[in-house]
Amino acid sequence: MEDVSDPPFRIICKRYGADLLYTEFISSGGLVHGAEGSVRKLEFYEEERPVGIQIFGGDEEQVREAAAIADAQEPDLIDINFGCPVKKVVCKDGGAGILRDLPKMERITASVIEQATRPVTVKTRLGWNDESIQIEQVARMLEDVGIAALAVHARTRAQMYRGEARWTWLPKVKAALRDIPLIGNGDATAPEKVQAMFDETGVDAVMIGRGAIGNPWIFRDTKAFLETGEVPAPPSWDERVAVVAEHLTLKCAWLGERKGVLEMRRMYGGYFKGHRGASQLRQRLMEFKDRDGVLEVLLNWRPEDEELRVPVATAVKPAVIKARLPRPARLPAKASQVA
Ligand SMILES: Cc1cc2nc3c(=O)[nH]c(=O)nc-3n(C[C@H](O)[C@H](O)[C@H](O)COP(=O)(O)O)c2cc1C
Repeated sequence: MEDVSDPPFRIICKRYGADLLYTEFISSGGLVHGAEGSVRKLEFYEEERPVGIQIFGGDEEQVREAAAIADAQEPDLIDINFGCPVKKVVCKDGGAGILRDLPKMERITASVIEQATRPVTVKTRLGWNDESIQIEQVARMLEDVGIAALAVHARTRAQMYRGEARWTWLPKVKAALRDIPLIGNGDATAPEKVQAMFDETGVDAVMIGRGAIGNPWIFRDTKAFLETGEVPAPPSWDERVAVVAEHLTLKCAWLGERKGVLEMRRMYGGYFKGHRGASQLRQRLMEFKDRDGVLEVLLNWRPEDEELRVPVATAVKPAVIKARLPRPARLPAKASQVA
């Protein structure tokens, strides 16, 4: 997920049980032109494996080149995004835009497979709009071209993220495929929903998106629920805070302290949603530009306090916490060095 699933986020999801991780979608044009923001998104930690690099674009030559660049990073797979609904992406035939030109979708997929020395997968939507749903034909065509798995977000492009995902299409897609796995996606936002998607659709795997934002525990909870029928107790406040602190620390290690602290601000809403005083806590965390300042507030905040007060560092000093946090493995060679 763009602006969400960077290496720090993915490492934490992995710890709580995510089996397969993907990078944010990466612009083919950005990669071909060496745009720093795009190249950066190729990075992953070895301990994330298996990990897929996801690319998008509507320019056939650029996607071909981008596939080679992504391949050189040695991910476990390369995923093509044919599902993004955003206007500035679809207007250039990127993302779900390609659903209006299936021969081009076929050519792009074939050229990525040709460039890649590892499995290539596709993520797409049901169709452009209600009048043009051709997902069964698309699935068969992509399998014939040679993809290794297909992920389907069970909405049309016209739906964007609105309404309910239409899971009733997933069994039809499953029936259209011969051998490759189908990954179901859309509204599997809680363990019970993941179970329901498996039961109702017969998909081979379920992809979790928004349900993991601020809630990496969803992977642990889902696995437990699938095995035992019971959802584990939610994380304690201390566990939640420790994960936020670690997320922040990993962000700073990856991006540098200033950028890491700034980018982490987007994450607090998800982590503290529904908690007493969440917005006050967020406000306080936003006041700091240094990691230790944020940690001091975070680690001393007591959500059960009836009255809000300015937290004072007492029990645990950030330096102590820092020592307890696992260090990330080194990132592989800088992506910018890729030829
Ligand atoms: C903030 C955000 C960013 C996203 N970025 C991507 C992306 O880069 N690549 C992708 O394949 N899907 C992306 N998606 C779509 C999700 O992967 C997923 O298909 C969609 O949210 C439906 O699944 P969910 O109900 O489990 O969230 C994004 C979704 C959100 C909310």
